[in-house]
Amino acid sequence: MDMWIFSRHAEVDAVLRDFRRFSNDQRKRDPARRRRSSLPQMPDPTILFLDPPDHTRLRTLVNKAFTPKAVAALEPRIREMTHELLDAAEDPAGFDLMEGLANPLPVMVIAEMLGVPLEERAQFREWSNRRARILEPLIDARTLRIANEASESLNTYFRSIIQTRRTEPRDDIISALVHVEEEGDRLTEREMLAMLRLLLVAGNETTTNLIGNGMLALLRHPEQLQVLREDPGRIPAAVEELLRYDSPVQATLRLVLEDTEVNGIPLRRDDNVLLLNGAANRDPAAFDHPDRLDIGRRDNNHVAFGRGIHFCLGAPLARLEGRVAIEVLLERYPSLGLLSERPAFRTSVVLRGLETLPVKAAA
Ligand code: HEM
Repeated sequence: MDMWIFSRHAEVDAVLRDFRRFSNDQRKRDPARRRRSSLPQMPDPTILFLDPPDHTRLRTLVNKAFTPKAVAALEPRIREMTHELLDAAEDPAGFDLMEGLANPLPVMVIAEMLGVPLEERAQFREWSNRRARILEPLIDARTLRIANEASESLNTYFRSIIQTRRTEPRDDIISALVHVEEEGDRLTEREMLAMLRLLLVAGNETTTNLIGNGMLALLRHPEQLQVLREDPGRIPAAVEELLRYDSPVQATLRLVLEDTEVNGIPLRRDDNVLLLNGAANRDPAAFDHPDRLDIGRRDNNHVAFGRGIHFCLGAPLARLEGRVAIEVLLERYPSLGLLSERPAFRTSVVLRGLETLPVKAAA
């Protein structure tokens, strides 16, 4: 793969914190090595693939909408959406928790925050999932082409909404960004499109997989599920443990900017570094009995949301959606159980999640 791979917690943590030596911006690669690299080049990078100062400038523009305080206001609406989805999906004979809840919920929540009509959500999710493949460390030419086409479709779609919001602003993220863009030199239209694409894509499959992987883990550990039924106040800590135990984002990538070393391993400028966040979250040097699910775990210093300046912007929202989904499922279904002991996972490497999660759930 022409990459260094780090899997220990201390290594992953150290590299992610050191943005001066480990860059997210593949354009900083020496042009000669760029041609040999299998990693896709991005013409309009999002903040995920930018370093300071652009990263700082752009992240600041959307930060406000994602603080724990701002997202707390969304809780009643998220709960309502969760109930609506389950009302439609539940079936005493069994139903797929992915299709019924985990797939649609995150895209509905982010679509509403951005200001995108909910009717378009199936199309949106499709584009978003295709685009998300660019995170894969090994991506073939066809998948890359499909990912880039999805990006163009998203741009065209967002452009039309941006036009409407210019004349009729609303209380949503697109209107707020349009306002900043019109004010002057802080945001270009291309940057705005990149941001909207990222907000849609980054929070979508990831949160889906927190709900899917998390519920699978809990259903496989009925004694811990029972603890949560008896004391729902423990669900937030359980969400952290589920993020650690079966991490939705298994890996992150960095480019080495100067000759350096990590844990005694010499690295050269332009080397690629793949960090295994999922493995770091199971490192016995960082967690007691790492392979054990323990919803009461203390000092849970997981790296499921990354570290440092790129720490997940949507973490408060993902935590809220995860908590509400679990709360509502436990509230509604006193005897929730798995219909398949080994439900199928999707094939991607970086975004780890289920294809289906068949459950039986007599209300
Ligand atoms: C359980 C769900 C989620 C997980 C596990 C997750 C994980 C991550 C990780 C590991 C990173 C850092 C990537 C890196 O350092 O290269 C990241 C960044 C990011 N996430 Fe999330 N994420 C989740 C949900 C969300 C949601 C709901 C949103 C927003 C709607 C979101 C928006 C972002 C953004 C914008 C970044 C880039 C931040 C930056 O580069 O400064 N994420 N996420």
